Amino acid sequence: MNKSILDEIRKKREFSQLPEIDIKMAYEQFEKKQITDDEKIKLTKELLRKIFSAFVSKKLLSPKNKDPEWILRKHISTKERMPFYKEIYKRIFREIKKASVIDLGAGINGFSYKFFKEEELEIDYTAIESVGQLVELMNFYFKKNKLNGKSFHLSLFESEKVKKIILKEKKPRIIFLFKVIDALESLKRDYSKELIQNLSKISDKIVVSFPTKSLGSRQKFKANRNWISEFIYENFIVSDDFELGGERYLIFNR
Ligand SMILES: C[S@@+](CC[C@H](N)C(=O)[O-])C[C@H]1O[C@@H](n2cnc3c(N)ncnc32)[C@H](O)[C@@H]1O
Repeated sequence: MNKSILDEIRKKREFSQLPEIDIKMAYEQFEKKQITDDEKIKLTKELLRKIFSAFVSKKLLSPKNKDPEWILRKHISTKERMPFYKEIYKRIFREIKKASVIDLGAGINGFSYKFFKEEELEIDYTAIESVGQLVELMNFYFKKNKLNGKSFHLSLFESEKVKKIILKEKKPRIIFLFKVIDALESLKRDYSKELIQNLSKISDKIVVSFPTKSLGSRQKFKANRNWISEFIYENFIVSDDFELGGERYLIFNR
């Protein structure tokens, strides 16, 4: 992909801060097709939209002084999870009071920090996210409220850098991969398996979640997710597996 194509894609505000590697990998899906460059760019943008911006309200790309609940409602994933955070964090941190959480493809999940507090958990929170605007928004919130959180602008395909960030965090390390497997798989098949295998070596617990239903294509979604739970059950020790609010959570370790 040449620089002018990259610049053309980044002209859209929603893609303006995406790491180059994500745009490149999306473009590669269409690069060899017998179509014009303009069509390749159009298809790349459509794919990027599905992966990075479809569930984010445009309102999130500017406001800074809204309360966390307002923000959590402006992202489909966190909005759907709102009534269940308490229960979800209770189950994840069952016998733990203090931990590092590394939230991969975090979206704006850092705004759920108050639920850690409500459970009296002492959490050192780190988010990694490709959409720069969301990273800024979370960092602004952590700073303003003096919370023990930070957010990095990085693609999960930059695996060595991700690993370095994780290794800097104190143990026990708990990794969240909430509703992000589909995004990774749509750019590189089987990458989530490779990532989970590698993460398991440097973490104490991994929590993977995926939607169990989706508007429009409920059946298809259900069938397509079996491979990930099978892979987890075959390779790891699963300590909990539950469904809440149309989202299934698997908690496991090596
Ligand atoms: C469906 S949202 C889920 C957000 C959050 N994990 C949650 O459940 O509240 C998927 C998120 O993953 C991010 N994402 C997708 N691919 C990524 C990648 N390669 N590197 C970093 N973030 C990625 C997207 O920008 C988006 O914020």
